[in-house]
Amino acid sequence: MTTAAFFPHLELAPGDPILGLNEAFQADTREQKVNLGIGVYTDENGRLPILKAVQEAEQALAQAARPRGYLPIQGTSVYGQAVQTLVFGEASHTRQSGHIATVQTLGGTGALKIGADFFKRVFASMAPHNGAARRPQVAISTPSWENHRAIFETSGFEVLDYPYYDAANHCVDIEGLLRALESYAPGTLVLLHACCHNPTGVDLSHEQWIRIINTLKARQLIPFLDMAYQGFSQSLDDDAQAVRLCAEAGIPTWVGNSFSKTFSLYGERIGALSIVTASAEEATRVLSQIKQVIRTNYSNPPTHGAALVSRILTTPDLRALWEQELTEMRERIHTMRHALVDALAQRKVAQNFDFVKRQCGMFSYSGLSPAQVDQLREAFGFYAVRTGRICLAALNTRNLERVADGIAHVLM
Ligand code: LMR
Repeated sequence: MTTAAFFPHLELAPGDPILGLNEAFQADTREQKVNLGIGVYTDENGRLPILKAVQEAEQALAQAARPRGYLPIQGTSVYGQAVQTLVFGEASHTRQSGHIATVQTLGGTGALKIGADFFKRVFASMAPHNGAARRPQVAISTPSWENHRAIFETSGFEVLDYPYYDAANHCVDIEGLLRALESYAPGTLVLLHACCHNPTGVDLSHEQWIRIINTLKARQLIPFLDMAYQGFSQSLDDDAQAVRLCAEAGIPTWVGNSFSKTFSLYGERIGALSIVTASAEEATRVLSQIKQVIRTNYSNPPTHGAALVSRILTTPDLRALWEQELTEMRERIHTMRHALVDALAQRKVAQNFDFVKRQCGMFSYSGLSPAQVDQLREAFGFYAVRTGRICLAALNTRNLERVADGIAHVLM
C-alpha cells in the first residue's frame, strides 16, 4: 500500500545559503577540500577544538553525576548572572540594580527568535495607545547574516535595510547608516552586530557607535545587538563596548549572545537573550512575558551547555584557562588573515587585499564574485559563501598556500 500524497502543492525549499553549503562540503569526497563557508573555528590541524576548559568542566560534571530535571523556563539564575556579568561587565550599574531580564536560549539564533516573538507582544501592547496598525519593523544592515532577514520575516516583521558596507572603500557607510536611522519610526527595532560584523568583518569605531547611540536615543529606536563573537576581535571587554554604551545611555537595549564560537560548543545550542529595562519591576514583567514565549515554543532549555558555561565562567581557574584559549583562537585567526593577504600579494594578484588585514573576527568580505566562488568550489573544493564571505578561521599553515593558489587562479 502506498501513502496518499498529502503534499502535492508543496514546493521544494531552497537549501540554506550557509548550512546548505556545509552539507555540500560534508558530501564532497575530495581530500583537499577546505570549508571557508560556515562560521566555525577549526584549529591548526583543521579540527574543531574541544577547549581544555570545557573538557575539565565536563569531567567535573560527569563526576558530580547530577540528575537531569527540567531547568527553569528562563534557565538557572547562576547562568543568567554569569551571562549578565560577561556581557554587561562587572561594574554595570544596570546589572547590579536588577534592571536586566536574561533568559537562556538555543544559541544566538534562539535569542533572535525569542526576541522577535517577544517584540511582537510589546508591539501589540503599544497598539491601543498609538493606533498603529502596521506590522512591527526591524532594520538590518546591508549586508547582514543571511538568517537575520529570514528569522524576522518568518516572525511577521517588516524588514527594512540600512546601508552598512561601503564596498568601494571597504569601510562602514556611516553617513548612509545614520540617515537611515533618522528616517525610521519610533519603536523600530534596529539589529546591530556588536562586534565582528557578519559577513563583512568591518566594525564600527567607538566614535561611530556614539553617533549611532545618540541617534537611536533621539529617534526612540530599540537596538537589538547580536553578539556571537565576543572576544574574537580585541578582547571580551572591548568587544562588548557597544552593548555597554547602549545600556549606559539608558536605552532599552536588547542583546542576543552566543557561546557557540567562543566556547566551541556549536552543537550545544547555548546562548542568551538579555533585555535592559527601566527598573527591577519592569524587568520582572518583561521576564514573565518572555517565559511564556519560551514555554509555548520549547518549554524550557537544555541542561548540558548551560552547566558547562556556568561552571567555566564562575570557576576562576577554568575562567582563566578559557580566556587564554579564546585569546589563542583570536590570535590564530589574526595570523591567518595576515598570512592570506601576504600570500595573495606574493602571487601578484591584480587586486590589493590589504583591506582584509583591517577586518576582524572570523570573516572577510573578500570581494570574490559568485562566479569566482563557484569556480573555487568546483575546481578546488574550497567552499565559500556566494556573497564572497570567507571564513578565515578555517585556514591553517597546511592549507593556506593551496587556498591562496586557488583564489589567485580564479582572480586571473
Ligand atoms: C555563520 O554565519 O556561518 C554561522 O553563524 C553559522 C550559521 O548558523 O549560519
